[in-house]
Amino acid sequence: MKHFSSISQIDDLNLWINQALEIKKNPLQDADLGRNKTIGLLFFNSSLRTRLSTQKAATNLGMHSIVLNVSKEAWAIEFEDGTIMNGSTAEHIKEAAAVLSQYCDVIGLRAFPQLVDRVKDESEHILKAFIKYASVPIINMESSTEHPLQALTDAITISEFKTKKRPKVVLSWCPHTKVLPHAVANSFVMTMQKMDVDFVIANPKGYNLNPAITKDIKIEHDQEVAIQHADFIYAKNWSSYEHYGRIRKVKSNWMITQEKMKDAKFMHCLPVRRNVVVEDSVLDGPNSIVIEQSNNRTFAAQLVLKKLLQHG
Ligand code: CP
Repeated sequence: MKHFSSISQIDDLNLWINQALEIKKNPLQDADLGRNKTIGLLFFNSSLRTRLSTQKAATNLGMHSIVLNVSKEAWAIEFEDGTIMNGSTAEHIKEAAAVLSQYCDVIGLRAFPQLVDRVKDESEHILKAFIKYASVPIINMESSTEHPLQALTDAITISEFKTKKRPKVVLSWCPHTKVLPHAVANSFVMTMQKMDVDFVIANPKGYNLNPAITKDIKIEHDQEVAIQHADFIYAKNWSSYEHYGRIRKVKSNWMITQEKMKDAKFMHCLPVRRNVVVEDSVLDGPNSIVIEQSNNRTFAAQLVLKKLLQHG
């Protein structure tokens, strides 16, 4: 594996889950693997978990990490080829990626979509440009359409908390005040397709995800029906895919409440808006596993880094 850009690269998910759980038992087992190596973490967008868990994973492997908040601290990068750079961009991706490759042995990249032009977002032009022009491995720390480190984490967490061989997992759309990307939901759907689970997506009409990703997964427009007998409810908002990047009016209340949860475990990638996406009593109750889920971000990142270092 030269780069880690998509959850689709994981051929044997069970093996990866077991390898991550082995790392979790003894996070310092490979403390010398990354000695004298450096990871550069580039953020075009905000982060708490991805930033710190990837740094922690790198530290556990003996690596140094450098964080650059690209949009706030670096020169604005031009991604178009052959453009006359007399506008706001000061540095071309060709130089930026090549220079970063001199300082870093691995580069992590977070670049959200604009959610205006679907074709442009789906082209993954930022992630692909870094893969093209950098000479070191690239890790996707959430791109326009995917968040594979989060999805691997989610698979590890479900595997840890399931109490039956084939649990029912529901990905439920929830309300939000902002226009949010599809990346977390996309990667979660792709991951559930690889797991032995009874998987249902619940979303209001007008909020179906990309059909090329959901394929033949059951989509239920009645949340109450979808969550019946659920073992895990994964709450997540996303903006409309069909009416790209828009917020559509939804009549019924899709916020996750204690009454809806019954005995299901509650999952969310975080950050989460309390009493908009989910009510306090769920997050503060015994069936919320969001903190354990966030803890697993370190071991997912560490497994990916380990594989990239071993490949090189
Ligand atoms: N879940 C997640 O990626 O969190 P951050 O945006 O804080 O990194």
